Amino acid sequence: METANAALARPERFRVTGGARLVGDVRVTGAKNSVLKLMAAALLAPGVTTLSEVPDILDVSIMSELLRRLGCEVERDREAATLVITVPEKIHHRADYDLVRRMRASIAVLGPLLARTGEADVALPGGDAIGSRPLDFHIAGLLKLGATIENEHGFIVAKAKRLTGATIWLDFPSVGATENLLMAAVLADGRTEIDNAAREPEIVDLCQMLQSMGAQIEGAGTSTLIIHGVEGLRPVSHSTVSDRIVAGTWAMAATMTLGDVTVHNADASHLEIALDKLVTAGATVDRTGDGFRVMMDRRPTAVDAVTLPYPGFPTDLLPMSLALNAVATGTSMVTENVYESRFSFVNELARLGADIRTDGHHAVVRGRPLLSGAPVTTPDIRAGAGLVIAGLVAEGETVVSEIHHIDRGYPKFDEQLCALGAVVVREDDPQVTFD
Ligand code: UD1
Repeated sequence: METANAALARPERFRVTGGARLVGDVRVTGAKNSVLKLMAAALLAPGVTTLSEVPDILDVSIMSELLRRLGCEVERDREAATLVITVPEKIHHRADYDLVRRMRASIAVLGPLLARTGEADVALPGGDAIGSRPLDFHIAGLLKLGATIENEHGFIVAKAKRLTGATIWLDFPSVGATENLLMAAVLADGRTEIDNAAREPEIVDLCQMLQSMGAQIEGAGTSTLIIHGVEGLRPVSHSTVSDRIVAGTWAMAATMTLGDVTVHNADASHLEIALDKLVTAGATVDRTGDGFRVMMDRRPTAVDAVTLPYPGFPTDLLPMSLALNAVATGTSMVTENVYESRFSFVNELARLGADIRTDGHHAVVRGRPLLSGAPVTTPDIRAGAGLVIAGLVAEGETVVSEIHHIDRGYPKFDEQLCALGAVVVREDDPQVTFD
């Protein structure tokens, strides 16, 4: 296992000093939510796959270890942000619990393993504390493609001599289910149609990689994906789509801190609604050659948000939206439609003085001029980023614990914040012991 694990072995925290105005340039790398799926897609073709714009995050190390256990060689160059994956002709088909429980995205190997080897034993995942996140769509879709599936001793055991194309309706445009079914269908016999498919840019990125590998896919980026199965695929070099959630986080942070931040290697068209919300809140957003610039010169105006599958407002930006509204003028209503437990961190924001009431999947936020620094604990990646940027607009110091979550989604977040003028210190988090 690579050394990024050190972050898990020794607890760390961020000490955030409030009052900074973020000013300057920041560059975004490839999307976490894409690269892990691209790594799984590499399994579909024997030979050497090269991925670039690979973010320096622990989840890439976990997925690398999973691929190694399946028989692949994986070489990572952190400086160059590349990953070279050598896939042998014969691969194993088991994804162990010790890896899958640490990273839910491991489930993405289910489709490719089944398509390549006719068999997949994948441990049932754990993952972020943001909802029950079942796998029923993945399983129902694979059954339609002709697989048999058992739940044995904590593993999904899927088998299929040869997958056969079928029409699959998803009850909800699930990102994970769309990806798994797509990766299974590209090597299936005949035509598969996935209706109510997810349309996220990360799905388009996966489709583009699969297409350059030789897959026949129509409708990428729409709700209907049509796949004509092929006999085999070839390995390729592919650059990971830029991380729209990280880019959106910088946009929100610039707005909240009355800053002026230019975000490079970002695609504003992937963030239309979120950036439009910031304009409504009072920010100026200009597109640049390779991204966008966000400028703000006054306290933001409260702005409602409703999370929905892409192209709706992303659920992964909900914590930042709550933080922004917490320091806005006026009252807003923020509605979460994707994950029922996304509001679990609201109590932490309340520790910073945010006035937020939740009822089911709605939150009413009454803005106040300034938050008040306090020690807080983050339950997941995005809540963590939301708490850190809330700390930037809090009086005094905010100490955010459990930052290994943040490190999973935001490579070098503290260094990038400091480069923009914030004061954020990474330090050991001494653990209290009791006798
Ligand atoms: C992915 C992202 C996550 C992001 C989310 C929405 C990864 C690792 N995670 O999550 O960061 O917040 O997309 O953009 O890429 N559902 C079912 N049954 C299923 C599958 C999903 O009921 O079989 C439900 C889930 O409980 C949830 C909703 O569908 O309410 C969305 O899930 P999905 O889009 O699959 O999200 P993930 O792929 O888990």
